[in-house]
Amino acid sequence: MSLRFAVNIADLRHEYMQSGLDEKNAAADPFKQFERWFDAATAARLHLPNAVILATADAQGAPSARAVLLKNYDPGGFVFYTNYASRKGRELAANPHACLLFSWVELERQVCIEGPVLKVSAAESDAYFASRPLGSRLGAWASPQSETVPDRAALEARFADARRRYGDAVPRPPHWGGFRVIPHAIEFWQGRENRLHDRLRYRRGDKSGWTIERLAP
Ligand SMILES: Cc1cc2nc3c(=O)[nH]c(=O)nc-3n(C[C@H](O)[C@H](O)[C@H](O)COP(=O)(O)O)c2cc1C
Repeated sequence: MSLRFAVNIADLRHEYMQSGLDEKNAAADPFKQFERWFDAATAARLHLPNAVILATADAQGAPSARAVLLKNYDPGGFVFYTNYASRKGRELAANPHACLLFSWVELERQVCIEGPVLKVSAAESDAYFASRPLGSRLGAWASPQSETVPDRAALEARFADARRRYGDAVPRPPHWGGFRVIPHAIEFWQGRENRLHDRLRYRRGDKSGWTIERLAP
C-alpha cells in the first residue's frame, strides 16, 4: 500500500524548549503548583484546560480510561462528576483508586495525580448539579451511561420523558454525583531539550508535608 500521502508517524519529532521546572522555583505545596500550571493553561486559552484523562481499574486490575472534566480542586482533592452506575463508577466502587492525567501538550506539560477516591457528599453533588444547565440536568436522567442502547432515538425519547416528568425542576438523580481523587502523589512533567525532561513528583509524607523528588525522564 502506498504511503505517499500519509504522514510518517515515526518522523513526527519535536524538541521541547518552552520552559523548565526545578526544585528552586517549584511551589512547596503541589496544590499551589497545580494552581500555577492550571492558571497558565487557562491563560494560554487551551481548549478545555480542565479536561483530564481518568484511569480506573476493575477488581481484577484490568485498566480503563476516559476523559472527564475537573470541576473543583482544593487541598482535599480533585473533583469530577459522573454517573455512579457507569463503567468508571462501577470500577471505582470495586477498586476506589484512580489516576488523573492532564495532558497540556501545547505547553509541553503533563500532570499526573494518583490516589484513593471517595464520593463527594450528597450536598456537594446537589449544589453542583443545581448549577448545571437544564439540558445537562435532563441528560443525566436520560442517559444510562455505559449501557448499550438500541439507537439514538431511544436516547432522545428518554430525554423527552425526563423533560415531561420534571419540567424545569430537575432533581439530581441518585445515581449521579461527584468523586474526589485524594492525591498521595502528584507528578509535574515539563518537556526539555534532548529529552532531558523535568519530572518533579510530590509524595504525601506522614504528617501534612510533601516530599519533592526528581524522576529521570
Ligand atoms: C472532553 C470530554 C469531557 C468529558 N467529561 C465528562 C465528565 O465530566 N463526566 C462524565 O461522566 N463523562 C465525561 N465525558 C465522557 C467520558 O469520556 C465517557 O465517555 C463517559 O463518562 C463514559 O465512560 P465509562 O463508560 O468509562 O464510565 C467527557 C468526554 C470528553 C471527550
